[in-house]
Amino acid sequence: MLILGVESSCDELAMALLRDEQIIGSVIASQVTHHQPFAGVVPEVASRLHMEYLTPTFKELLQQAGVSASEIDAVSCTNRPGLVGSLLVGLCFAKSLAWSLGKPFVTVDHVMAHWYVNHFVHPSLAFPYLAVVASGGHTLLFHVKSLDDVQMIGRTIDDAIGECYDKVAKFHHLGYPGGPMIDALAAKGDEKAYLFPHANLYKGEHNYDVSYSGLKNAATNQVQQFHQSGHGQGIEDLCASFQRVAVGMLMLRIKKALSDFKLSSLVIGGGVCANQYLRAQAHSLSGINVYYPPMSLCGDNAQMIAFLGRALLLAGCRDGWDIGVVNRIVRKGN
Ligand code: KG4
Ligand code: ZN
Repeated sequence: MLILGVESSCDELAMALLRDEQIIGSVIASQVTHHQPFAGVVPEVASRLHMEYLTPTFKELLQQAGVSASEIDAVSCTNRPGLVGSLLVGLCFAKSLAWSLGKPFVTVDHVMAHWYVNHFVHPSLAFPYLAVVASGGHTLLFHVKSLDDVQMIGRTIDDAIGECYDKVAKFHHLGYPGGPMIDALAAKGDEKAYLFPHANLYKGEHNYDVSYSGLKNAATNQVQQFHQSGHGQGIEDLCASFQRVAVGMLMLRIKKALSDFKLSSLVIGGGVCANQYLRAQAHSLSGINVYYPPMSLCGDNAQMIAFLGRALLLAGCRDGWDIGVVNRIVRKGN
């Protein structure tokens, strides 16, 4: 079975072709240079560029894989969650293509694709487990019992962890996206140089939510005061101290969830799971098997959409031509 995966939920337009369990083509049309001057994604710019890139990206993909469009057996596409304009461009393209070819069509949840990709990278991965998605738009914890029994147990109540990295990097003129810069600088710094606030949201027994707005404000405003008073330390120390708390807050919830639900496997996905400190902290959990994708599959990509699309198609899922996009996380019952 040859499946096309289409991803356009934010600022990357990506397409991939999956033949059975092997990727035979993958193209990402990145817009990062267009958004860099704004140190963040401008939604209107993102959707307009997606429209421009659609045809060249599809043509490049077919050429790379050495197939023609008529050979595609099914089409899968992200339709949730994400920027509405961006999602619509990819969805309209994918639906039109599937309709014109007379082939099955299935929509994919972007957040689920971020962690589900681990099943293809690590075939030994078995249910149940704790899945964590840490990206520019999301910080989410899921108790996963099977492909169709996924319970969201925690989320950020304000900023996403990646968004926090990007805002702190923007404030300190480190460039966009900020995560990789802070990750690299932090490796050379003293993580105890600055004391940043650690949000404690334990309300009731089963609270796995996180909060990043306090840390974000501290890592910008507070540091400015330190510098003005002449007590500023190096940027490496700032990054290391910030990262210790940013990752530490998430690790605390991860540990609690693993213990409360008696799980022995941790599955991570999303752009922030490229972070070296987060990976090291996850590996330091005793008795826990840790799974994450290779760097190329951490950020937004279409391979993960084709992988999950294939699993859904094999499970009998299909979507009709009237399906639309949803900007938010979709939970059972909403
Ligand atoms: O999954 P992704 O590509 O897009 C979303 O769905 O949001 O994640 C992008 C986010 C950005 O905030 C970026 O700064 C962050 O992932 N990121 C990192 C690292 N590499 C990318 N954050 C921390 N450390 C990294 N090494
Ligand atoms: Zn993503």
